[in-house]
Amino acid sequence: MIKKGIILAGGYGTRMSPLTKAVNKQLLPIYDKPLVFYPLSILMLAGIKDILIIVNQGQLQQFNKILPEGKNLGIKINYAQQKYPKGLPDAFIIGEKFINKENVALILGDNFFYGQSLTEKLKECAKLKSGAKLFLHPVSNPSLYGVVKINKKNKVLKILEKPIKYLSNMAITGLYFFDNQVVKYSKSLKPSKRNEIEIVDLLKKYNNKNKLSVEFIGRGGAWLDAGSIKDFYDASSFVAALENRQGLKIACLEEIAFSNRWINKKQIKSAIKFYGECKYSDYLRKLIKCICEYIKRWSGNNNCNCC
Ligand code: TTP
Repeated sequence: MIKKGIILAGGYGTRMSPLTKAVNKQLLPIYDKPLVFYPLSILMLAGIKDILIIVNQGQLQQFNKILPEGKNLGIKINYAQQKYPKGLPDAFIIGEKFINKENVALILGDNFFYGQSLTEKLKECAKLKSGAKLFLHPVSNPSLYGVVKINKKNKVLKILEKPIKYLSNMAITGLYFFDNQVVKYSKSLKPSKRNEIEIVDLLKKYNNKNKLSVEFIGRGGAWLDAGSIKDFYDASSFVAALENRQGLKIACLEEIAFSNRWINKKQIKSAIKFYGECKYSDYLRKLIKCICEYIKRWSGNNNCNCC
Protein backbone atom coordinates (compact mmCIF):
# COMPACT_ATOMS: atom_id res chain seq x y z
CA MET A 1 0.00 0.00 0.00
CA ILE A 2 1.22 3.51 -0.82
CA LYS A 3 1.40 5.33 2.48
CA LYS A 4 2.95 8.60 1.37
CA GLY A 5 1.48 11.41 -0.68
CA ILE A 6 2.68 14.77 -1.90
CA ILE A 7 0.52 17.82 -2.58
CA LEU A 8 2.31 20.26 -4.88
CA ALA A 9 0.84 23.56 -3.78
CA GLY A 10 3.30 26.21 -4.91
CA GLY A 11 3.24 27.89 -8.29
CA TYR A 12 2.95 31.51 -9.42
CA GLY A 13 -0.81 31.44 -9.95
CA THR A 14 -0.26 34.03 -12.68
CA ARG A 15 -3.63 33.43 -14.33
CA MET A 16 -5.37 34.40 -11.12
CA SER A 17 -3.46 37.57 -10.41
CA PRO A 18 -4.12 39.95 -8.62
CA LEU A 19 -5.88 37.46 -6.29
CA THR A 20 -2.68 35.47 -5.99
CA LYS A 21 -0.26 38.36 -5.47
CA ALA A 22 -0.28 37.99 -1.70
CA VAL A 23 -2.13 34.72 -1.10
CA ASN A 24 -1.32 31.27 -2.42
CA LYS A 25 -3.96 30.01 -4.87
CA GLN A 26 -4.46 26.83 -2.85
CA LEU A 27 -5.66 28.88 0.12
CA LEU A 28 -8.37 30.67 -1.83
CA PRO A 29 -11.90 29.35 -1.36
CA ILE A 30 -13.67 26.77 -3.45
CA TYR A 31 -17.10 27.60 -2.05
CA ASP A 32 -16.74 26.94 1.70
CA LYS A 33 -13.21 25.55 2.07
CA PRO A 34 -9.70 26.43 0.95
CA LEU A 35 -8.78 24.76 -2.33
CA VAL A 36 -6.04 22.67 -0.69
CA PHE A 37 -8.68 20.73 1.33
CA TYR A 38 -9.87 19.06 -1.89
CA PRO A 39 -6.60 17.42 -3.02
CA LEU A 40 -5.86 16.55 0.61
CA SER A 41 -9.24 14.83 0.86
CA ILE A 42 -8.36 12.75 -2.22
CA LEU A 43 -5.12 11.48 -0.67
CA MET A 44 -7.00 10.70 2.55
CA LEU A 45 -9.68 8.82 0.62
CA ALA A 46 -6.88 6.77 -0.93
CA GLY A 47 -5.92 5.81 2.62
CA ILE A 48 -2.75 7.91 2.65
CA LYS A 49 -1.82 9.29 6.06
CA ASP A 50 1.69 10.62 5.62
CA ILE A 51 1.50 13.85 3.61
CA LEU A 52 4.07 16.32 2.34
CA ILE A 53 2.71 19.69 1.24
CA ILE A 54 5.13 21.63 -0.95
CA VAL A 55 4.53 25.37 -0.83
CA ASN A 56 6.24 28.47 -2.20
CA GLN A 57 9.16 29.84 -0.27
CA GLY A 58 7.81 32.20 2.38
CA GLN A 59 4.23 30.88 2.39
CA LEU A 60 4.68 28.15 4.96
CA GLN A 61 3.08 30.05 7.82
CA GLN A 62 -0.08 30.73 5.83
CA PHE A 63 -0.56 26.99 5.27
CA ASN A 64 0.44 26.03 8.77
CA LYS A 65 -2.34 28.17 10.19
CA ILE A 66 -5.08 26.33 8.37
CA LEU A 67 -3.46 22.88 8.21
CA PRO A 68 -1.18 22.36 11.19
CA GLU A 69 0.56 19.05 11.81
CA GLY A 70 -2.57 16.97 11.15
CA LYS A 71 -3.26 15.53 14.62
CA ASN A 72 -6.98 16.40 14.47
CA LEU A 73 -7.16 14.41 11.25
CA GLY A 74 -5.17 11.41 12.43
CA ILE A 75 -2.58 12.07 9.74
CA LYS A 76 0.90 13.57 9.60
CA ILE A 77 1.37 16.75 7.61
CA ASN A 78 4.92 17.71 6.69
CA TYR A 79 5.90 20.84 4.79
CA ALA A 80 8.65 21.71 2.35
CA GLN A 81 9.28 24.86 0.37
CA GLN A 82 10.01 25.29 -3.32
CA LYS A 83 12.13 28.32 -4.23
CA TYR A 84 10.38 28.81 -7.56
CA PRO A 85 8.27 26.58 -9.85
CA LYS A 86 10.78 24.23 -11.50
CA GLY A 87 8.21 21.78 -12.83
CA LEU A 88 5.99 19.06 -11.39
CA PRO A 89 8.65 16.31 -11.06
CA ASP A 90 10.58 18.69 -8.79
CA ALA A 91 8.14 17.44 -6.12
CA PHE A 92 10.08 14.17 -6.02
CA ILE A 93 13.44 15.88 -5.80
CA ILE A 94 12.31 18.16 -2.98
CA GLY A 95 10.52 15.20 -1.39
CA GLU A 96 13.38 12.71 -1.70
CA LYS A 97 13.96 12.41 2.04
CA PHE A 98 10.24 12.25 2.77
CA ILE A 99 9.71 9.51 0.17
CA ASN A 100 12.75 7.59 1.39
CA LYS A 101 12.50 4.04 0.02
CA GLU A 102 8.74 3.98 -0.49
CA ASN A 103 6.26 4.45 -3.31
CA VAL A 104 4.41 7.73 -3.46
CA ALA A 105 1.29 9.50 -4.78
CA LEU A 106 1.35 13.03 -6.16
CA ILE A 107 -1.61 15.37 -6.48
CA LEU A 108 -1.51 18.94 -7.72
CA GLY A 109 -2.76 21.46 -5.20
CA ASP A 110 -5.23 23.01 -7.62
CA ASN A 111 -6.92 19.79 -8.79
CA PHE A 112 -10.48 18.91 -7.86
CA PHE A 113 -11.85 15.38 -8.25
CA TYR A 114 -15.33 14.11 -7.56
CA GLY A 115 -17.24 11.04 -8.61
CA GLN A 116 -18.97 7.80 -7.87
CA SER A 117 -16.72 4.90 -6.89
CA LEU A 118 -13.74 7.27 -6.86
CA THR A 119 -12.73 6.08 -3.37
CA GLU A 120 -12.61 2.46 -4.52
CA LYS A 121 -10.47 3.42 -7.50
CA LEU A 122 -8.14 5.47 -5.32
CA LYS A 123 -7.70 2.60 -2.88
CA GLU A 124 -6.99 0.26 -5.77
CA CYS A 125 -4.35 2.65 -7.19
CA ALA A 126 -2.72 2.94 -3.78
CA LYS A 127 -1.93 -0.79 -4.05
CA LEU A 128 0.58 -0.02 -6.81
CA LYS A 129 3.77 -2.00 -6.28
CA SER A 130 5.84 -1.05 -9.30
CA GLY A 131 5.63 1.32 -12.24
CA ALA A 132 3.41 4.39 -12.47
CA LYS A 133 -0.29 5.00 -12.76
CA LEU A 134 -2.05 8.13 -13.91
CA PHE A 135 -5.64 9.29 -13.95
CA LEU A 136 -7.22 10.32 -17.24
CA HIS A 137 -10.34 12.33 -17.91
CA PRO A 138 -11.98 13.24 -21.22
CA VAL A 139 -11.97 16.97 -22.00
CA SER A 140 -13.44 19.10 -24.76
CA ASN A 141 -10.28 21.23 -25.11
CA PRO A 142 -7.35 18.73 -25.11
CA SER A 143 -4.88 21.21 -26.61
CA LEU A 144 -4.67 22.87 -23.16
CA TYR A 145 -3.49 19.72 -21.38
CA GLY A 146 -0.99 16.91 -21.35
CA VAL A 147 -2.74 14.27 -23.46
CA VAL A 148 -2.42 10.51 -23.80
CA LYS A 149 -3.35 8.27 -26.71
CA ILE A 150 -4.31 4.77 -25.62
CA ASN A 151 -5.29 1.62 -27.49
CA LYS A 152 -8.27 -0.66 -26.82
CA LYS A 153 -6.35 -2.46 -24.10
CA ASN A 154 -5.60 0.87 -22.41
CA LYS A 155 -1.95 0.68 -23.30
CA VAL A 156 -0.38 4.12 -23.61
CA LEU A 157 0.77 4.68 -27.20
CA LYS A 158 1.72 8.34 -27.11
CA ILE A 159 2.05 11.17 -24.60
CA LEU A 160 2.11 14.82 -25.64
CA GLU A 161 2.05 18.09 -23.75
CA LYS A 162 -0.53 20.56 -25.10
CA PRO A 163 -0.80 19.03 -28.61
CA ILE A 164 -1.54 21.53 -31.39
CA LYS A 165 -2.80 18.74 -33.66
CA TYR A 166 -5.56 16.51 -32.22
CA LEU A 167 -4.17 13.36 -30.61
CA SER A 168 -6.94 12.26 -28.22
CA ASN A 169 -9.38 13.81 -25.77
CA MET A 170 -7.86 12.00 -22.80
CA ALA A 171 -6.21 14.61 -20.58
CA ILE A 172 -3.66 13.72 -17.93
CA THR A 173 -5.08 14.88 -14.61
CA GLY A 174 -3.00 15.98 -11.65
CA LEU A 175 -3.13 12.69 -9.77
CA TYR A 176 -0.36 10.12 -10.10
CA PHE A 177 0.96 7.05 -8.30
CA PHE A 178 4.64 6.14 -8.63
CA ASP A 179 7.08 3.51 -7.47
CA ASN A 180 10.31 4.53 -5.80
CA GLN A 181 12.19 4.89 -9.11
CA VAL A 182 10.45 8.25 -9.47
CA VAL A 183 13.13 10.06 -7.50
CA LYS A 184 15.93 8.75 -9.69
CA TYR A 185 13.99 9.38 -12.91
CA SER A 186 13.03 12.92 -11.86
CA LYS A 187 16.64 13.77 -11.16
CA SER A 188 17.63 12.64 -14.62
CA LEU A 189 15.14 14.93 -16.44
CA LYS A 190 16.40 17.83 -18.54
CA PRO A 191 14.52 21.15 -18.43
CA SER A 192 12.23 21.86 -21.39
CA LYS A 193 12.05 25.02 -23.51
CA ARG A 194 10.04 26.72 -20.77
CA ASN A 195 12.87 25.84 -18.38
CA GLU A 196 10.86 23.37 -16.30
CA ILE A 197 11.23 19.64 -15.84
CA GLU A 198 8.09 18.11 -17.31
CA ILE A 199 5.75 15.45 -15.97
CA VAL A 200 5.19 14.11 -19.51
CA ASP A 201 8.92 13.38 -19.79
CA LEU A 202 8.77 11.52 -16.50
CA LEU A 203 5.74 9.51 -17.67
CA LYS A 204 7.52 8.72 -20.94
CA LYS A 205 10.37 7.16 -18.97
CA TYR A 206 7.92 4.76 -17.35
CA ASN A 207 6.10 4.13 -20.61
CA ASN A 208 9.33 3.31 -22.46
CA LYS A 209 9.82 0.52 -19.94
CA ASN A 210 6.19 -0.63 -20.29
CA LYS A 211 5.60 0.44 -16.74
CA LEU A 212 2.86 3.01 -17.21
CA SER A 213 -0.80 2.23 -16.65
CA VAL A 214 -3.92 4.35 -16.64
CA GLU A 215 -7.11 4.72 -14.64
CA PHE A 216 -10.20 6.72 -15.57
CA ILE A 217 -12.36 9.03 -13.56
CA GLY A 218 -15.16 8.16 -15.95
CA ARG A 219 -18.11 10.00 -17.34
CA GLY A 220 -19.98 10.13 -14.05
CA GLY A 221 -17.08 11.86 -12.35
CA ALA A 222 -15.65 15.33 -12.48
CA TRP A 223 -12.14 16.64 -12.70
CA LEU A 224 -11.62 20.36 -12.53
CA ASP A 225 -8.32 22.09 -12.60
CA ALA A 226 -8.77 25.35 -10.74
CA GLY A 227 -6.20 27.32 -12.67
CA SER A 228 -8.12 30.33 -13.92
CA ILE A 229 -10.72 32.58 -12.34
CA LYS A 230 -13.43 30.90 -14.42
CA ASP A 231 -12.29 27.41 -13.33
CA PHE A 232 -12.37 28.62 -9.75
CA TYR A 233 -15.93 29.86 -9.97
CA ASP A 234 -17.04 26.77 -11.89
CA ALA A 235 -15.59 24.52 -9.18
CA SER A 236 -17.19 26.68 -6.46
CA SER A 237 -20.60 26.49 -8.12
CA PHE A 238 -20.25 22.74 -8.52
CA VAL A 239 -19.49 22.27 -4.82
CA ALA A 240 -22.22 24.71 -3.76
CA ALA A 241 -24.85 22.98 -5.90
CA LEU A 242 -24.01 19.50 -4.59
CA GLU A 243 -23.55 20.45 -0.95
CA ASN A 244 -26.73 22.50 -0.75
CA ARG A 245 -28.76 19.84 -2.49
CA GLN A 246 -27.49 16.87 -0.49
CA GLY A 247 -26.69 18.46 2.84
CA LEU A 248 -23.39 16.57 2.65
CA LYS A 249 -20.01 18.20 2.34
CA ILE A 250 -17.39 17.45 -0.27
CA ALA A 251 -13.86 17.30 1.20
CA CYS A 252 -14.81 17.57 4.86
CA LEU A 253 -11.46 16.32 6.14
CA GLU A 254 -12.69 15.31 9.60
CA GLU A 255 -15.55 13.29 8.11
CA ILE A 256 -13.13 11.34 5.92
CA ALA A 257 -10.71 10.82 8.81
CA PHE A 258 -13.57 9.60 10.98
CA SER A 259 -14.91 7.17 8.42
CA ASN A 260 -11.37 5.87 7.91
CA ARG A 261 -11.35 5.33 11.71
CA TRP A 262 -8.30 7.56 12.12
CA ILE A 263 -10.00 9.87 14.63
CA ASN A 264 -12.83 9.73 17.11
CA LYS A 265 -15.30 12.26 18.41
CA LYS A 266 -12.72 13.89 20.67
CA GLN A 267 -10.71 15.11 17.69
CA ILE A 268 -13.86 16.28 15.90
CA LYS A 269 -14.70 18.35 18.95
CA SER A 270 -11.27 19.94 19.01
CA ALA A 271 -11.63 20.62 15.27
CA ILE A 272 -14.87 22.51 16.04
CA LYS A 273 -12.93 24.60 18.58
CA PHE A 274 -10.19 25.20 16.04
CA TYR A 275 -12.54 26.42 13.28
CA GLY A 276 -14.81 28.42 15.61
CA GLU A 277 -18.45 29.27 14.99
CA CYS A 278 -19.09 28.66 11.31
CA LYS A 279 -21.11 26.45 8.98
CA TYR A 280 -18.24 23.98 8.73
CA SER A 281 -18.35 23.52 12.53
CA ASP A 282 -22.14 23.15 12.39
CA TYR A 283 -21.61 20.32 9.93
CA LEU A 284 -19.09 18.67 12.25
CA ARG A 285 -21.56 18.98 15.14
CA LYS A 286 -24.18 17.26 13.03
CA LEU A 287 -21.67 14.57 12.20
CA ILE A 288 -21.06 13.86 15.89
CA LYS A 289 -24.82 13.71 16.51
CA CYS A 290 -25.29 11.23 13.70
CA ILE A 291 -22.52 9.07 15.09
CA CYS A 292 -24.20 9.01 18.52
CA GLU A 293 -27.59 8.22 17.05
CA TYR A 294 -26.05 5.43 15.02
CA ILE A 295 -24.29 3.96 18.05
CA LYS A 296 -27.46 4.20 20.15
CA ARG A 297 -29.56 2.47 17.54
CA TRP A 298 -26.93 -0.14 16.86
CA SER A 299 -26.30 -0.99 20.52
CA GLY A 300 -29.95 -0.68 21.58
CA ASN A 301 -28.63 1.40 24.45
CA ASN A 302 -29.70 4.98 24.95
CA ASN A 303 -26.36 5.90 26.37
CA CYS A 304 -23.84 6.08 23.57
CA ASN A 305 -20.92 6.43 26.02
CA CYS A 306 -19.13 8.79 23.70
CA CYS A 307 -20.58 12.24 24.42
P1 TTP B 1 0.46 25.37 -13.02
O1 TTP B 1 -0.96 25.36 -13.45
O2 TTP B 1 1.50 24.95 -14.00
O3 TTP B 1 0.89 26.79 -12.51
P2 TTP B 1 0.20 27.80 -11.49
O4 TTP B 1 -0.83 27.16 -10.65
O5 TTP B 1 1.26 28.52 -10.76
O6 TTP B 1 -0.61 28.80 -12.41
P3 TTP B 1 -0.17 29.83 -13.54
O7 TTP B 1 0.07 29.00 -14.77
O8 TTP B 1 -1.41 30.67 -13.64
O9 TTP B 1 1.01 30.61 -13.09
O10 TTP B 1 0.62 24.43 -11.75
C1 TTP B 1 -0.25 23.41 -11.41
C2 TTP B 1 -0.20 23.18 -9.92
O11 TTP B 1 1.08 22.74 -9.51
C3 TTP B 1 -0.48 24.42 -9.09
O12 TTP B 1 -1.19 24.03 -7.96
C4 TTP B 1 0.89 24.93 -8.72
C5 TTP B 1 1.71 23.67 -8.63
N1 TTP B 1 3.12 23.79 -9.02
C6 TTP B 1 4.08 23.86 -8.05
O13 TTP B 1 3.77 23.88 -6.85
N2 TTP B 1 5.38 23.88 -8.41
C7 TTP B 1 5.78 23.84 -9.72
O14 TTP B 1 7.01 23.84 -9.97
C8 TTP B 1 4.77 23.80 -10.71
C9 TTP B 1 5.15 23.77 -12.14
C10 TTP B 1 3.46 23.76 -10.32
